Amino acid sequence: MTRLLYVEASPRKQNSYSSRVAQAFLESYQETHPDHDVEQFPLFQVDLPPFTAEGADQKMENIMNRFAGGDGIEAIGEWAGVMAEIGRLERADKVLLSSPVWNYSLPYRLKHWLDLVVQVGVTVLVNEKFEYIGQLIGRRVQIITSSGSSYEERFPLPTDGTKTDFMHPYLEHIFRFLGFEDIRTLRVHPTGIPGPDLEKMVAEKEEEARAAAKTF
Ligand SMILES: Cc1cc2nc3c(=O)[nH]c(=O)nc-3n(C[C@H](O)[C@H](O)[C@H](O)COP(=O)(O)O)c2cc1C
Repeated sequence: MTRLLYVEASPRKQNSYSSRVAQAFLESYQETHPDHDVEQFPLFQVDLPPFTAEGADQKMENIMNRFAGGDGIEAIGEWAGVMAEIGRLERADKVLLSSPVWNYSLPYRLKHWLDLVVQVGVTVLVNEKFEYIGQLIGRRVQIITSSGSSYEERFPLPTDGTKTDFMHPYLEHIFRFLGFEDIRTLRVHPTGIPGPDLEKMVAEKEEEARAAAKTF
């Protein structure tokens, strides 16, 4: 059965614009693919496994083990949590990720999840030429982000350069690094100026998301 994993990275539930547009995507997706399995994974509501000194040491130990020709270290302690989260992602054929932009970048819970699932030695292997080969091939991801301002604008002065966007280049890079070949992005912005234009923009994005889901 085809599985879609929905990773929700805004904690704001019904107030979240990224979640709202993702919800429109999901409803349309489920209408188009009624037999597909959808797993919801709200990052601010689930207990993500810890990844501290033990996990970081195990990560490096695992890489050394793989370089030496082993099959990887035993899934105990924090590494068990890492392997469980990798398993959840590996079971998914498709990923829907919705997230706010926080301080030009990712909310910390999303980074935490990525630090669990992006593991050289497991989800990314290294070949004889020391090239990284992402293992999550044949998968696609739809990213839906929302930000208070529009990133085309200059900030804070008109003479300043374009706002620095660390979020989209990073997300697109990290999914490519994991092996995803089909990476689609939908931006919901600017959400920071209340009024009828905001509602109109969000309604248009919901419509765009519904259409995008039909071909996902
Ligand atoms: C901690 C925090 C940091 C934020 N940083 C940015 C930012 O760097 N750039 C921006 O345009 N908006 C920023 N915002 C505004 C959010 O991106 C905006 O409210 C967006 O709609 C949040 O997504 P959500 O509605 O899905 O929660 C920030 C909001 C919060 C709470």
